Amino acid sequence: MSKPPLLIVVLAAGKGVRMASATPKVLHQVAGRSLLGHVLATAQATGADLALVAPPAEAVRVEAARIAPGIGIFEQSRALGTGAAVLAAEPALRRHRGDVLVLFADAPLIELATIERLIGTLQGNALAVLAFEPADTTGYGRLIADDAGNVTAIREHGDASEDERRLRLCNAGAIAFRVGDLASLLRRITNANAKGEYYLTDAVEIAVAQGLRARPVMCTPAEALGINTRAQLAEAEAAFQARARRQAMHAGATLIAPETVWLSFDTRIGRDVTIEPNVFLGPGVVIEDGVQILANCHIIGARLRAGARVGPFARLRPGADIGGGVHVGNFVEVKNATLEEGAKANHLAYIGDGRVGAGANIGAGTIFCNYDGFNKAFTDVGKGAFVGSNTALVAPVKIGDGAYVGSGSVITKDVAADALALGRAREEQRHGWAAKFRDRLGRRRTQG
Ligand code: UD1
Ligand code: CA
Repeated sequence: MSKPPLLIVVLAAGKGVRMASATPKVLHQVAGRSLLGHVLATAQATGADLALVAPPAEAVRVEAARIAPGIGIFEQSRALGTGAAVLAAEPALRRHRGDVLVLFADAPLIELATIERLIGTLQGNALAVLAFEPADTTGYGRLIADDAGNVTAIREHGDASEDERRLRLCNAGAIAFRVGDLASLLRRITNANAKGEYYLTDAVEIAVAQGLRARPVMCTPAEALGINTRAQLAEAEAAFQARARRQAMHAGATLIAPETVWLSFDTRIGRDVTIEPNVFLGPGVVIEDGVQILANCHIIGARLRAGARVGPFARLRPGADIGGGVHVGNFVEVKNATLEEGAKANHLAYIGDGRVGAGANIGAGTIFCNYDGFNKAFTDVGKGAFVGSNTALVAPVKIGDGAYVGSGSVITKDVAADALALGRAREEQRHGWAAKFRDRLGRRRTQG
């Protein structure tokens, strides 16, 4: 039997005033991705048709189209409540024949398997309500259930009686519907409540009065976290990190102090990787098998190939491609540059917009001078080359394979393979000069 088609309506409008921010609430980030991005990516993974109810903000449309190209976007210009928000997508509801799932874009941690359980519960039930028991129930809608455990109503916090407020079971926000005509069900919702809003949650009571059945589906508090405040944003970040660290360790990485390692939504970590304390991994990082990241590194948009070792205190920026067995040491910054197999830059260097050939050595204090105030230019260091300490390579410039560059050089012209380049003042020595100097000054002092 084939499954009925599914439409997922993601709600991302509303006021979000408690974030105290000029940025729309759903564009705030967890693990380097917007709240909206998390929810859309998970929704997309179901293969369902998607509709988004967005606030009138260009940035929200751009983000939605980036994550889910071609998504139907419906604007809700006045935040009249979650029930009114779903109705803003009415053209999509009308076109659709099948189940409808409503997700909130401010609850970013919902998992694919949970969505599948919700949809599965529609076999034999008209509504499936995602439920959880938070440590602090403040602000969440309480589920009112009958003796059989069916949900009969959802009471919003502001409208709940003392007794109802004591209920622990809360609405996580995701509600799935298998009803003939969701739009007309939603149109029966009124705004006679504490907030003067059209609550989506009232659809439960209305449906039950029509003889339909609503079942709760449980999930964990971490997964259900809805973000209305920056404190909840930080809680969601913590929950995400806890999950991502566990996954990394499960997949074969050693995190010596897991609670000090920050991962992003798309971090990829291989087996037998070791990550020491205080490491930040921003978006776009790929860490292959056997890599070692020593303490205190900041890494974004970089690939670390098998067996590379970076840090302590290394900074890898977007486009850093660290080859197999490469060593990048303390206070080395790499941006948009490839370090090929076995190359070394062990101390204090800036390697920006360039290539370091296999086995080449970049001495302490080497700077790739890639920027003239207007344009960026490329530095190419050949394989097996040796760049002495405190060298400025003024791009565009090419150091041939196996060439030597003397310490303290400023190199502005290409260096041939296997040549020695010196670009510094010639050293001079005057024998006995210091002794004579001391002698002369010493005599003057005794005379004076
Ligand atoms: C909502 C639920 C509550 C649940 C909680 C879970 C309602 C009435 N209440 O409360 O039962 O426990 O989520 O986190 O549904 N939105 C719109 N347009 C609007 C209003 C909201 O698109 O007019 C969007 C928001 O962007 C947000 C989501 O809907 O993503 C939920 O709205 P929010 O105002 O955060 O609802 P809560 O008060 O948290
Ligand atoms: Ca919310």
